[in-house]
Amino acid sequence: MAQTQSDGTWCIFDTITPSSSLIMQFGKGTICSGEYLEPPGPPQFTQGDTMVEGKTKIAVIGAGNVGATCAFVLAQKKLGDIVLLDIFEGFAKGKALDMSQGGQILNYDGSITGTSDYADIAGAEVVVVTSGFPRQPGMSREDLIGKNADIVSQVGAGIREHAPDSVIVMVTNPLDLMTYHMQKVTGFPPHRVVGQAGILDSARMTHFVAQEIGCSNEDVQAMVLGGHGDTMVPLPRYTTVGGIPITQLLDSDTIDAISKRTAGGGGEIVKLLERGSAFYAPGSAAAIMAESVVKDRKRLLPCSAYLSGQYGLDDIYIGVPVTLGKNGVENIIELNLEDSELESLQGSANFYKGQLTELLGY
Ligand code: NAI
Ligand code: 2OP
Repeated sequence: MAQTQSDGTWCIFDTITPSSSLIMQFGKGTICSGEYLEPPGPPQFTQGDTMVEGKTKIAVIGAGNVGATCAFVLAQKKLGDIVLLDIFEGFAKGKALDMSQGGQILNYDGSITGTSDYADIAGAEVVVVTSGFPRQPGMSREDLIGKNADIVSQVGAGIREHAPDSVIVMVTNPLDLMTYHMQKVTGFPPHRVVGQAGILDSARMTHFVAQEIGCSNEDVQAMVLGGHGDTMVPLPRYTTVGGIPITQLLDSDTIDAISKRTAGGGGEIVKLLERGSAFYAPGSAAAIMAESVVKDRKRLLPCSAYLSGQYGLDDIYIGVPVTLGKNGVENIIELNLEDSELESLQGSANFYKGQLTELLGY
């Protein structure tokens, strides 16, 4: 005999039927005093629902390698509802459904939905933009500029219309140029458009230092500024292990080799993968930026930010240390750089300024 309990669960009294025994054998439900209690089913959500009205919403544009990784990290951080948008609707929906089903395994909930419709990003506090072509072996990031600028124009129009108050975290390469382009396309205040590069580049340097010293990644803090490309500027003087500058721990040849490997870090992975580029560390780095914004954590991170006079640079996006909070870039930190370091940063910025004019007509 089956009865429904006040909490909606089933209870079968005194009738352990062959089928319920089978269920018992496989460990489903709870047996107590000869009763079989069906566990309450998971809440049913359909694509498009959110669990709680007014909950934080984060949109990720591009459901490819970087976008999906970013969304997966965001889900595990339980920051809010996630909308994954891709030009291929089924691709975005499939990844969102797959990630949603991982919720029970990794203990996260909230809705993760896939879409190709920009109306679904309405209300997003942060929009992470990863849509665009990745590098293939033999390509520089700058080789992607033409195709990706068109994609950024299209995506920017969607964000401007449907998430006009959001903070945009750019990932699409060539990063510093696409971040500049996105700011122009949306017309957002520059502090609400910021690019991900320095966290990844610094994490790469951190890893190489930790390997060299034989210590935990966690104890290393690296600082890489400049553009996300061959002109990036690793700063050994601002790279520490447990607070000790690496200049006191490693010889200059080793530090030079680490800096060089850091600058070529993306290319090293492109060569190994033979198709596409890195995504675990890049997707995670973008998620960290989104987290700092939605939680207003004000983390101090190297990001591509719009400069208006800082470091002697103007009207350019380039990697510098910033604090990231609910308003996006809230503060640009001006480090006391040595002449050679400042020259490298300005050289990197001037390279991208030239590209903005020559290739994008700014
Ligand atoms: P991917 O090819 O795996 O994914 C790109 C996704 O963008 C695809 O799913 C594609 O359908 C989608 N897409 C293309 N056009 C679109 C449009 N108009 N609207 C919406 N979605 C669109 O590439 P992956 O590996 O995810 O890389 C994405 C971008 O991120 C590339 O430009 C890559 O170079 C860049 N990247 C930047 C890094 C950084 O540190 N800033 C690090 C790693 C990658
Ligand atoms: C990276 O640095 C390709 O920008 C990408 O891995």
